Amino acid sequence: MASAIIGGMLDDGYKAGDIWVSAPDDGHLQAIRKRFGVSVTTDNRYCAQQADMVVLAVKPQVMADVCRDIAPVVQNTRPLMVSIAAGLTADTLDEWLGGGLPMVRVMPNTPSLVGKGAAGLFANNHVKDDQKKMVQAVFESIGSALWVEDEKLLHGVTALSGSGPAYFFLMLEALEAAATEAGIEPATARELAIQTMAGAAEMAARSEHDPAQLKRNVMSPGGTTEQAINTFEEGGLRDLVKKAYGAAFKRSEEMAEELAGKQ
Ligand SMILES: NC(=O)c1ccc[n+]([C@@H]2O[C@H](COP(=O)([O-])OP(=O)(O)OC[C@H]3O[C@@H](n4cnc5c(N)ncnc54)[C@H](OP(=O)(O)O)[C@@H]3O)[C@@H](O)[C@H]2O)c1
Repeated sequence: MASAIIGGMLDDGYKAGDIWVSAPDDGHLQAIRKRFGVSVTTDNRYCAQQADMVVLAVKPQVMADVCRDIAPVVQNTRPLMVSIAAGLTADTLDEWLGGGLPMVRVMPNTPSLVGKGAAGLFANNHVKDDQKKMVQAVFESIGSALWVEDEKLLHGVTALSGSGPAYFFLMLEALEAAATEAGIEPATARELAIQTMAGAAEMAARSEHDPAQLKRNVMSPGGTTEQAINTFEEGGLRDLVKKAYGAAFKRSEEMAEELAGKQ
């Protein structure tokens, strides 16, 4: 995820010389240095000391140790702290970092890897407007970045855009299987399904109409689309989506509680 962010920043015009990267494995770091031209170190404190903005991109399980280690440095330099770790609250992170720091939590998703991410962002009340703009610009370099006012809504973002790519992959799988069963070559079915999903997403993003209207525009009375949409509606697709979304939301809350209990 950190590599995706670095790549997006560089494509967007940030200078490699302004970016420092820290991780324990020097082999990985040298590969990152060669690929992006950024500065690297295995010393988290040294890395944090250089920065106006520190992005914490480690697994939640190692976050407490990383934060406690850099706390003396960031308490001195007071950069904007940004975490992309799922489930760890801004207050928990801030406490590990010694308290009182500006903190933004981001829930990114995997399409960030191809510059088409969708991230939800939450800022604590130490974050200034220019810092919000700075972090928003970073995440806009790998897709869309939208703020939520209530931190709990990051669970809702997780259930929507965090897990969301898998929902659409499931739809692709199901469409491909149905078309293949009807006799279309698997590779052809896959390409047609993917291009249809990408085309529909592009239309929804560009159109002045909402998705309901766009759907109606494809449905002519008595036509094929109407038959398919009626089948989805009668099969309870909307309720199923609501249930699936709720299950992901609940699991995100549970995982945050489990993580809080372990630290
Ligand atoms: N992947 C996703 O789709 C996704 C989506 C949303 C949020 N997230 C969040 O993003 C975070 C990173 O996930 P990821 O999938 O990118 O994990 P990852 O590929 O395992 O990357 C974690 C990085 O942390 C480094 N690291 C480990 N211990 C460290 C330490 N003590 N100090 C400094 N760096 C350390 C690792 O360095 P080495 O290379 O040296 O091992 C590695 O580069 C997680 O908190 C996850 O919850 C991920």
